[in-house]
Amino acid sequence: MKDITIAIDGFSSTGKSTIAKLLAKALGYVYVDSGAMYRAITFFAMKKGLITTEYFDREALISALPNAHVSFKFNSDLGFAEVYLNDENIEKNIRTLEVSNLVSIVAAVPEVRAQLVKIQKAIGKHKAVVMDGRDIGTVVFPDAELKIFMTASAETRALRRYNEIKNNGEDITLEAILENVQKRDHLDSTRKDSPLLKAEDAIEVDNSNVTIEEQFQNILKLVNSVL
Ligand code: C5P
Repeated sequence: MKDITIAIDGFSSTGKSTIAKLLAKALGYVYVDSGAMYRAITFFAMKKGLITTEYFDREALISALPNAHVSFKFNSDLGFAEVYLNDENIEKNIRTLEVSNLVSIVAAVPEVRAQLVKIQKAIGKHKAVVMDGRDIGTVVFPDAELKIFMTASAETRALRRYNEIKNNGEDITLEAILENVQKRDHLDSTRKDSPLLKAEDAIEVDNSNVTIEEQFQNILKLVNSVL
């Protein structure tokens, strides 16, 4: 069986990462959560005081980028890789609403994108990778053998993120999540550099009214059709 590259793009909280993780496990591929990398740079900027809800020192962030080393380390207990910033595990720090509210601003900076896309391409050099994000099928791996564009209703998505954040111990309302999801989708789709777009050759998959298992089986069929 040949190794392929699987790109999964879509709006926030459509369930991309759940399916991507399952696929990677089933195929013995590497799973890469590219959103975690943009969150890591956002966390870095927050720690350095370069971004708040009122303020963003874009130039200072660009100058500081060489000091922000984002990497992944496989956690065998969890069965997937966790994100590290300068050798510190920041997996818990990046899933907060505070980071979610600022990440799309940081992700719109071309220098940030260039730095992260370089790492993403390097990880996928030998294929056998499932990567999820916003520009994976369009920019990172335009030659991916399988491109999925995942959609889901706004309610399904807000509820999904709500449960994720609650599980993390953060006190939050569903309204605040919905607002964040919609705002991010708008910023991600309208930015100049690498906006969220369905690649021409991507297959659109609606994740609203199916169970995870059903969706996984559907996508596995698509994988088998290109293997
Ligand atoms: O996937 P997740 O929701 O964690 O992504 C967080 C944010 O990172 C997105 O809203 C988007 O602004 C940015 N992102 C991006 N390109 C990617 C992945 C994520 O711009 N490939």
